[in-house]
Amino acid sequence: MSHAEEPAASRRDFLYYATGAVGAVTAGAAIWPLINQMNPSADVQALSSIYVDVGGVEEGGQITVKFLGKPVFIRRRTPEEIEAARAVALSELIDRNARNPNSRGTTAEDVNRSLDANGEWLVMIGVCTHLGCVPLGEAGDFGGWFCPCHGSHYDTAGRIRRGPAPENMHIPVARFVDANTIQLG
Ligand code: FES
Repeated sequence: MSHAEEPAASRRDFLYYATGAVGAVTAGAAIWPLINQMNPSADVQALSSIYVDVGGVEEGGQITVKFLGKPVFIRRRTPEEIEAARAVALSELIDRNARNPNSRGTTAEDVNRSLDANGEWLVMIGVCTHLGCVPLGEAGDFGGWFCPCHGSHYDTAGRIRRGPAPENMHIPVARFVDANTIQLG
């Protein structure tokens, strides 16, 4: 059943469904198992890319794809989430590094974390920077992500705000190649 056929699904249903939506990854992804099998050198792996179709992701929705062995969260944020993230001063942050190789700037203001300048899209490696658990979305004291392993709270920009994690969730190399497609790597 496609997303379009599930208009009544709640946001949480959608998130759950989308998490399993391996079909969202297209084109370049097919090449990955083959390369992996050939046991490539690290620099070949570093060049690998996948293309993710995000055309079906609604506002407030998120999909999770696997990239280089790690979950990557791709979230289309609501205006409220963007506003909350952009209202935070750098001085309030535990980690002031953007942790973003694509960044317009190196400090952790929201504008330096989102994929697009308007802040609608947030793409992050979904791994807690404490000891590597996968945080839960739409959870925690800051409305972003919560890592239940030892209680790390991330905000709607994926920045660590409370708990033992030392760094903001990292952002992978990513860019839009067209209106509906994000290239990772
Ligand atoms: S691994 Fe996330 S808080 Fe420890």
